[in-house]
Amino acid sequence: IKLEAVEKVNQVNDSKELQEVKVAYLGKKGSLTGVLRGMGKLSKEERPVIGEIANQVRETITSAIEEKSKVLEEKALEEKLQAEAIDVTLPGRPVKAGGPHLLTSIVEEIEDLFIGMGFEVREGPEVETDYFNFEALNLPKDHPARDMQDTFYITNELLMRTHTSPVQARTMQSYGGSKPFKMICPGKVYRRDTDDATHSHQFTQIEGLYVDKDVKMSDLKGVLDVFAKKMFGQDREIRLRPSFFPFTEPSVEMDISCKSCDGQGCSVCKGTGWIEILGAGMVHPNVLSMAGYDPNVYSGFAFGMGPERIAMLKYGVNDIRQFYLNDVRFLKQFHNA
Ligand code: PHE
Repeated sequence: IKLEAVEKVNQVNDSKELQEVKVAYLGKKGSLTGVLRGMGKLSKEERPVIGEIANQVRETITSAIEEKSKVLEEKALEEKLQAEAIDVTLPGRPVKAGGPHLLTSIVEEIEDLFIGMGFEVREGPEVETDYFNFEALNLPKDHPARDMQDTFYITNELLMRTHTSPVQARTMQSYGGSKPFKMICPGKVYRRDTDDATHSHQFTQIEGLYVDKDVKMSDLKGVLDVFAKKMFGQDREIRLRPSFFPFTEPSVEMDISCKSCDGQGCSVCKGTGWIEILGAGMVHPNVLSMAGYDPNVYSGFAFGMGPERIAMLKYGVNDIRQFYLNDVRFLKQFHNA
């Protein structure tokens, strides 16, 4: 039995087979167990002799099984390590890196520029009240200029803001009518427009407002000139044209000179040599007083520009929808812009 068992243990290839051998010899119905059971039938003299032999055989088989089991375990571990081995010399797969959206970059560039001139950056709600979007900006109910900005209404009094100008009124209110300040406010705005290459029902604006005791039109012009030159290059000129906004008086629109089109054949400048990039003006006395500032003591200038337009001009983007389609082939061109 001993030799046969040890031989079998040696032939075993895996732990399942080993278990079978163990059961066959040492299990309840195993052959060695059979011998030990039969001991009762032996004579007094034979019993201790056979018992000792049987115990020796059991020990031998048990230790053979234990040894084999260790060997099998090691073999299994070895195989597992082999299978899980990683070839650290394989060239890596590059991880694709994202980058800021072109609009984000442009807005941040404009923010930095105005922060450099002492402006703070503010935010305001996109869901706005009729009061802040219109009334506080000198557009009473039934004012015809409300049609200038086709509005998405939510209720009679709540709407999606059509411009960032409501943040003018909100900021003045928060300063309590007595402190001078300079702020800009970037944000999303909404208008009922049919989307095409130059219109989008949602776009962004950056509002600017400076209120102090002696703010003049020349201050506005100076700040806008610095902005245009820093944004587009020292060789750019600005031009202010008279315009109308209910919340500024006088009101202007600002054009910037086109560099590359020489007055003809240029799609962004439409052959004129100039492109409009923002609306501005001196804050209307009514707007100042509604927000708590005495128009006899304080004056201010305000402007509102469209970062999409600025990006389109700066990088020659010809369709405003590109900003919102999120086509990575378009966007990744500007990751180092
Ligand atoms: N809110 C105006 C618009 O959306 C722009 C503007 C802002 C004009 C501030 C003057 C002063 O068209």
